[in-house]
Amino acid sequence: MTLFDKKTIRDIDLSGKRVLLRADYNVPVQNGIISDDYRIKRSLQTLRYILEQPGTSIVIISHLGRPAGPQDMQFSLKPVAEHLSKLLGKKVDFASDCVGQETTQMANNLLPGGVLLCENLRFHPEEEKNTPEFAKQIAETSCAEVFVQDGFGVVHRAHASTDAITKFLPSVAGLLLAEEVETITKVMDNPEHPLIAVIGGVKISDKIEVLDRLMDIADCVAVTGAMANNFLLAQGTKVGKSIVEIEAVGTAEEILHKAHEVEKRRPFSFLVPADVVVSTKMDGTAGTRIVDLSSHSISDIESYPKLPRPTAYTVEPDEMILDIGPLSALHIAGVIKFCKTVIWNGPCGVTEVKGLAGAQNPFAHGTQIIADAMIGQSTKDKNRPYSLVGGGDTAAYVESQGLIDDFNFVSTGGGASLELMSGHQLPGVEALQDK
Ligand code: 3PG
Ligand code: MG
Repeated sequence: MTLFDKKTIRDIDLSGKRVLLRADYNVPVQNGIISDDYRIKRSLQTLRYILEQPGTSIVIISHLGRPAGPQDMQFSLKPVAEHLSKLLGKKVDFASDCVGQETTQMANNLLPGGVLLCENLRFHPEEEKNTPEFAKQIAETSCAEVFVQDGFGVVHRAHASTDAITKFLPSVAGLLLAEEVETITKVMDNPEHPLIAVIGGVKISDKIEVLDRLMDIADCVAVTGAMANNFLLAQGTKVGKSIVEIEAVGTAEEILHKAHEVEKRRPFSFLVPADVVVSTKMDGTAGTRIVDLSSHSISDIESYPKLPRPTAYTVEPDEMILDIGPLSALHIAGVIKFCKTVIWNGPCGVTEVKGLAGAQNPFAHGTQIIADAMIGQSTKDKNRPYSLVGGGDTAAYVESQGLIDDFNFVSTGGGASLELMSGHQLPGVEALQDK
């Protein structure tokens, strides 16, 4: 049985065809410079496969960011066309719109082996509205005979380029899309135990459903990052001026309740940070200290063996929790070492903040410790667990550390991977032809 029941480009004859390909080239661009090209690199396998078939050419469509209007040029895909040319080792033409006569001509003039990237789909509001007429226009403009969906990061959206477009062209999956869906589904449906899920990031509201599913399948769930603050609050811990979603504290309570129920039924643990790193400022310009919420001693070692001062275990009103502390990080790392599978989604702290005068990022230690534990001593370490890493901020952190190849699978999808892990169907996948 295969986990992916949609047709892929391997199931159809592409020879001599012009292909309309939806990629997710929503990458960070600043002043024309792409700071993280993981999504572009991951799309190359599909592009190369198509170009290897005799007589093919490709028209690529994508969105970038959330532009406010049609001429919001900071969201132009032009830098992506240049970068893609370099990675692919061949010229990639760029069309300044995804519809219209000029682009139709460029698409029509593509020679076998030719590649054309069109400007940001979201310069047209009809894209996000999933307007059929707009999808039809895209299909006609591309002069293509087949549509290939390979933008895994965006298939959780029902947009013109993920949903409506499939009404106008025979539509199949690209290799990246198939690989993402198969890998994530396999781990969620049939994981090797013990399984730990480390869930972090800022917003708990994004993670509620995935936490719910993970409590059914994992042996341990560790919550970290700012979203863990909601669990601390639900437990009655003071969190100062840390980021919280007040309306979600009730949900955090429900999740804790479910966790306790699961703990009664079977071996399972739900880990909430026992210690945290705090500061009065998030930008790294103020001092940091460790607050030892549970054991009340490590962070006030001077007082030992006398009772620690209350500040040692209390987040002050003007302080913010910005990372998990070393006790929690090492606890999670220890569990990871015993596991056969790790699912990781969301950094444990504010990893991107730089320290003063080139010092190490002050709120990245927790994330570093658990990443190290996942990777093991080397990729040849037989005892290291299989690691599935969610896209978005987690993939960006892993990429920034040059560690992408050290994990087993790093997804290109943020919201899409969470939806899939939660067990939801993805509209952009559902719309494709069945096998
Ligand atoms: C993403 O990066 O999450 C995808 O490219 C989808 O973008 P969106 O969240 O703006 O729809
Ligand atoms: Mg998103």
